[in-house]
Amino acid sequence: MKKKDNGKRVRFFIVYLLIYSYCMKKLKIGFTYDAKADYKLKPGESPDKIAEFDSEETLSEIEYSLKTSGHIIERIGNVHSLLKKVAQGKRWDLVFNIAEGIKGRNRESQVPAILELFDIPYSGSDALTMGATLDKAVAKIIVSNSGILTPKFLEIEDLSQLNKKKFHLKYPVIVKPSEEGTSKGIAQESIAHDFEHVRKRTKWLIEKYKQPALIEEFIIGSEFTVAVIENDPPLVLPPVQIAINNKTFLGENFYKHSCVFDDSIKYICPAEIPKSLDKKLRETSYNSYKALGIRDLGRFDFRVDKDNNPYFLECNPLPNLGLIDVFPLVSKAIGITYEEVICKILNSAIKRYGLDYTDF
Ligand SMILES: Nc1ncnc2c1ncn2[C@@H]1O[C@H](COP(=O)(O)OP(=O)(O)OP(=O)(O)O)[C@@H](O)[C@H]1O
Ligand SMILES: [Mg+2]
Repeated sequence: MKKKDNGKRVRFFIVYLLIYSYCMKKLKIGFTYDAKADYKLKPGESPDKIAEFDSEETLSEIEYSLKTSGHIIERIGNVHSLLKKVAQGKRWDLVFNIAEGIKGRNRESQVPAILELFDIPYSGSDALTMGATLDKAVAKIIVSNSGILTPKFLEIEDLSQLNKKKFHLKYPVIVKPSEEGTSKGIAQESIAHDFEHVRKRTKWLIEKYKQPALIEEFIIGSEFTVAVIENDPPLVLPPVQIAINNKTFLGENFYKHSCVFDDSIKYICPAEIPKSLDKKLRETSYNSYKALGIRDLGRFDFRVDKDNNPYFLECNPLPNLGLIDVFPLVSKAIGITYEEVICKILNSAIKRYGLDYTDF
């Protein structure tokens, strides 16, 4: 008699699951991105220009993961392709956005602004947060207003603003572009121990990148990156430690653009660090997420000094989601798959817009 009951229960459960998945509203999810393959470099143009864009391999991994959510995924492509499709009257229930943007300091804001104009829900941060985080000086001012430590800095638009007598930063300093990612413009020459070196590198940087140079006190110590996903409350994922040439105490060493192409970098997760530092990194990431108005996903870069104080370097509201970056590692550390983390990001956007209903 009991066996019969169990059989009935299993059959009922299967039928229930079938009805549920049939009735679950499948959303039409658009996918905006910048693919390396969509840009043909003109002769003489630096590969720097497309360094932040995604390879077809990464896009396929993300697309495959999104499909495991059960929703319908439709590739859109870059901002121009989005504009064309919107003009043709195409619409989506939600757009999963990882587009880095093509040019200018508002490049990451363009897709969110267009989607907002057409009342199309989208994943990730809005245009204001994208702009505020792309400009590292603005992001630093915002987080430091919330009591978060960030290296002292100067933003130099024109070389004439650089004055030896008024230069108050402690050496060594690092000179970097204020509005770039993927460590563009960051090389061994970026670290300076005297004013003449600072002046030379600042001049080079302003001329090459046509944007202000950020001169920051260099934090001697170690380096971490922390991914945060979801909202209300944000879920801070385990801190990832960065090792260069197998060393976790980096001292004056740092992540240069050349590291993107060699195998000197190793990500360690879970990081082998004292509980107190783990807690500080998580709390600082949580507070930065809130202060900057990040939504659904973000990644925060920190240098940690000899007294274990984390210094906020920058926030990436569009972190690399590819398999070679930190997301697969942090997923494993919390006992879920990479695909599940990508779906969590999608679902937090779906939930934020109240689209997570069924047809019952
Ligand atoms: N103030 C600093 N002190 C020590 N190292 C620093 C500092 N600023 C930057 N660096 C080093 O330079 C690297 C790149 O800097 P940053 O993260 O600001 O640039 P990015 O190009 O936006 O980076 P990403 O590759 O994460 O997009 C850091 O990962 C770190 O190793
Ligand atoms: Mg960084």
